[in-house]
Amino acid sequence: MFTILTGAQFGDEGKGKIIDVLSSGYDIVVRFQGGNNAGHTVVVGDDTYKLHLLPSGVLTDARLLIGPGVVIDPGVLIGEIEMLESAGIRITPEKLGIDAKASIIMPYHIEMDKLREQGRKHKIGTTARGIGFAYIDKTSRDEVRLADLSDKNIFLATMDELAPQKERAIIDLGGAPGVVRACIPDYTRYGAVLKPYITDVSYELNHALDSDRNVLAEGAQGAHLDIIHGTQKYVTSSSTTAGGACVYLGIGPTRVDQVIGVVKAYITRVGEGPLPTEQTGEIGDRLREMGGEFGTTTGRPRRCGWFDAPLARKAVYLNAYSNIALTKLDVLTGLGPIKVCTEYELDGERITYPPELSSDLERCVPVYEEMDGWDLDISIVDAFSDLPAAAQDYVCRIEEILKVDIRIVSNGPKRDQMIVR
Ligand code: GDP
Ligand code: IMO
Ligand code: MG
Repeated sequence: MFTILTGAQFGDEGKGKIIDVLSSGYDIVVRFQGGNNAGHTVVVGDDTYKLHLLPSGVLTDARLLIGPGVVIDPGVLIGEIEMLESAGIRITPEKLGIDAKASIIMPYHIEMDKLREQGRKHKIGTTARGIGFAYIDKTSRDEVRLADLSDKNIFLATMDELAPQKERAIIDLGGAPGVVRACIPDYTRYGAVLKPYITDVSYELNHALDSDRNVLAEGAQGAHLDIIHGTQKYVTSSSTTAGGACVYLGIGPTRVDQVIGVVKAYITRVGEGPLPTEQTGEIGDRLREMGGEFGTTTGRPRRCGWFDAPLARKAVYLNAYSNIALTKLDVLTGLGPIKVCTEYELDGERITYPPELSSDLERCVPVYEEMDGWDLDISIVDAFSDLPAAAQDYVCRIEEILKVDIRIVSNGPKRDQMIVR
């Protein structure tokens, strides 16, 4: 079975938690795009693991893979492996495989990301992890792949060729070019550490599917941060939607059995860009506080707002979800009446689907429907029928809007805080 799981909003929907719980039913969990701009949180007992590159199935017996469409900061990945080893979880090459063609994020990508962002009139609010510039180099065929990094002679020759070009680019952006060559000794060492993990991810996955094994593809970010279909230009630099998993992993679309969407019961966004239902007053503050809505990667406060049906409808179109996991329902407890944005008003007209351009989305005024809230602590409930009627109605209303089954309702960060319907 091949399952793809993606975020349906602007990231941070709780993908990490859902993947951790589902992983026990899978033989392989594979990350297909993005890099350490992602922050996926997994809570097991009293321990919290914040993962940026390793798939969130790391705490189960599944084999982990990182596909060729991921951009890897090798220092961050090695740090993550060491962090887990110090917690008693060994990440051997039997446990983890990384594709030879995964792109390496070089320190000059990070420097260029920061300089470009500083120079922008309208900032994107990137995570400053070098993601965009690493993907530029993949597309322009100037990337350093893991295969190149892990062969010292090839790496040195690649850097000889690339360094003058990167130095000029950094000077053009107003920076100091020393960073380009200074990293070479450290990166040579990283290449040697990561070499044993190299594998052909597409082959492994297709072979596993041929052998009736179960594969779960883990997306990072969310539908509206997609490089093509998201709220451009306030997006990340990869395809975050389900089709991207096939492209990045080298698996044909006819092999996909299931696409799971992770949807937060409200909406959040980190960084700039339109967010029609954003609440800047007391409601926004309470959602942030109750939901712990601070970036896993950068610590930035997340912008918070009511559930946005037009954006959710678009995420369903972009991903063709088979079913949905609705997360963080518990965060809405005690808020009083809950609002759901069912449509927008734009230029005097009511629309149920977002306009294509961010400049138009920014002008959309949400039209809300109000629903009853609830006060009972639902974080200890484990059957749908035990939820207060208002919470059940809220889930059913979102299901009706999405026209997709909500199979899982998550009511807390821990593994057992989950209602399967
Ligand atoms: P991801 O990027 O989609 O994996 O999400 P993050 O890990 O960045 O952010 C989600 C946050 O919400 C994490 O701190 C999770 O531990 C937490 N979380 C996940 N599901 C739930 C839930 O149902 N209720 C609550 N209260 N927290 C949750
Ligand atoms: P997970 O996987 C939320 C946002 C950044 C910025 C934009 C571009 O944890 O859901 P980038 O550094 O990618 O060039 O930044 O995308 N962003 C995320 N927001 N969750 C994420 O990942 C994100 N990854 C990137 O804040 O607005
Ligand atoms: Mg996150």
